[in-house]
Amino acid sequence: MSDRQKLIVNGGRRLEGELRVHGAKNSALPLLSAAVLAHGETVLHNCPALTDVDVACRILTHIGCKCRRSGDTVTVDATNVFGGEIPDNLMREMRSSIVFLGAMLGRTGRCKLTFPGGCELGARPIDLHLSALRQMGAEIIEQHGYLDCNVGKGLHGAKIVLSFPSVGATENILLAAVTAKGETEIHNAAREPEIVDLADFLSKCGAKIRGAGESVIAIDGVERLEPCEHSVIPDRIAAGTYLCAAAMTRGEMILTHCCPEHMTGFLQVLEAMGMRIYTYGGGKMYLSGKKSYKAPPTVRTMPYPGFPTDIQAPFTALCTTAEGTSVFVETIFENRFRHVSELVRLGASIKTEGRVCVVQGVKQLSGAKVCAAELRGGAALVVASLAAEGTSEISGLQYIDRGYECLEGALRSIGADIKRV
Ligand code: EPZ
Repeated sequence: MSDRQKLIVNGGRRLEGELRVHGAKNSALPLLSAAVLAHGETVLHNCPALTDVDVACRILTHIGCKCRRSGDTVTVDATNVFGGEIPDNLMREMRSSIVFLGAMLGRTGRCKLTFPGGCELGARPIDLHLSALRQMGAEIIEQHGYLDCNVGKGLHGAKIVLSFPSVGATENILLAAVTAKGETEIHNAAREPEIVDLADFLSKCGAKIRGAGESVIAIDGVERLEPCEHSVIPDRIAAGTYLCAAAMTRGEMILTHCCPEHMTGFLQVLEAMGMRIYTYGGGKMYLSGKKSYKAPPTVRTMPYPGFPTDIQAPFTALCTTAEGTSVFVETIFENRFRHVSELVRLGASIKTEGRVCVVQGVKQLSGAKVCAAELRGGAALVVASLAAEGTSEISGLQYIDRGYECLEGALRSIGADIKRV
């Protein structure tokens, strides 16, 4: 449906007002996978209404769970999980369905799924996932585009050293280790807040985990996990995207239900550009834009707590009208500048060379027809169009709807002239 829709934006209006930040997509997905491990009914609050979350619920239903949503609470009854195969169409709809592998091996001992394969950001290999699970005793046969996995005599603990602090691999190892026999150590683990949220959930279910959020995580396997009730952490990338939108229009914004301490990697860049940021307690923060911004010092995307790769595209959009030249180095993914050609159609002056993107600030963007090719790049086009003179049309909404709850509704509520047709 959303692949035939588009957003019509009449730019040039200053955004001001208050926005509530929805629950984190990149936490809700691994949490929904973790629910497979709990023998009973898990309750997840603050679960965002996103197409990726819908796909995760369809995968859970396919393997025998019962999912239902009421408002922003999703309940997953995993009393009877028969496991088996994650169908290809569902795997293709969401690359991160690989994170179901560890949980399904932990619960049922078997899992067959198609290789998630490359996507809009580059190769998206899963070598770190597979080598870690093999170290824990999983037998994984890769053939005809399928991964056929089973745990043989059962998963056992291992000392795993990740060559890169992969978020997904850290999550898969956690999910496999919590009911494996013995102790697992993850060295060079990802430190993202979503890892901590997953570990908090699993601990509430009875898992024994130490060091989540640090580079070494230790897990003592337990027999069985019981379900629990949990609230998904706020989406730091959605929060950052909203801030870029307000700043793009020289506006001001209050965010609620957010977690500023998860956002330090990029809040300091906004401040370096001349914006004023105030953080209050209770998940509230305030941004006040200015008439003009300086280009920030070179931005390098890094694993947490560095500047997150997911916010690079919306920041690139914001820098198209900053004073001076901004440089972005994308160190995480090899193909994450697909929004650049579309920003140029909006009048931006940007050049890319490999993993480097150089943005020459211009006075004014002007409306155009542009097309999203992936989730965060699509959000960047929306951010830029808000300040572009005249009308813009943005298609490819099926990408944007994967990670933002009704982005146009949120922006309209603080003064944007934007509608979905
Ligand atoms: C998670 O993806 C997020 N997705 C991504 O957000 C995010 O950009 C990424 O982490 C980095 O923060 C979800 O959480 C669902 P990685 P993931 O494994 O787990 C390489 C969004 O827009 N790598 O940390 O796939 C990989 O190719 C999405 O919300 C291997 O080489 O990220 C990449 O270059 C996009 N082998 C780098 O590591 C592996 O086995 C980071 O990947 C695994 C990863």
